[in-house]
Amino acid sequence: MALLHILKYPHPALRKKAKPILVFENSITQLAANMLETMYQAPGIGLAATQMGIEKQILVIDTSDAKDNPLIICNPKIVSKAGEMIYEEGCLSFPGIYAQVSRAQQISLEYQDVEGNHQTLEVEDLTAICIQHEMDHLIGKLFVDYLSSLKRNRIRKQLEKQQRKQ
Ligand code: NI
Repeated sequence: MALLHILKYPHPALRKKAKPILVFENSITQLAANMLETMYQAPGIGLAATQMGIEKQILVIDTSDAKDNPLIICNPKIVSKAGEMIYEEGCLSFPGIYAQVSRAQQISLEYQDVEGNHQTLEVEDLTAICIQHEMDHLIGKLFVDYLSSLKRNRIRKQLEKQQRKQ
């Protein structure tokens, strides 16, 4: 396994749309393992391939307290949503930035696991929020897109300043 480099906003690759995974070969299993290791090490509760500049529809999450319940999700599609929940989100591509975002409180999902088997999942609360956040990454959408352009510009300047210092 290997740690991957997470791109930081406003890196242009964060705006790319990921493509569906058609062949579930060994390299996908390896990518998923590396993504999980990178997410746990960060530490974070979710990571999408787009954040490493990889244009594939794959994301990993683990919203359990014990960090022992990894979920690998390929080619996800939301089939239904319900409710609304406001949560203070962060993102590994936005170190130190948190903002309140409103999303569906429950979602039903169709996806493929790392072996390509079709699966369905019904989740709510933090897990639902996290999956919606990561699915946004796969279409080049970021949590700051839900904020005003004034707030977004302020965040961009803050992160550009951070990156210049590194
Ligand atoms: Ni994120």
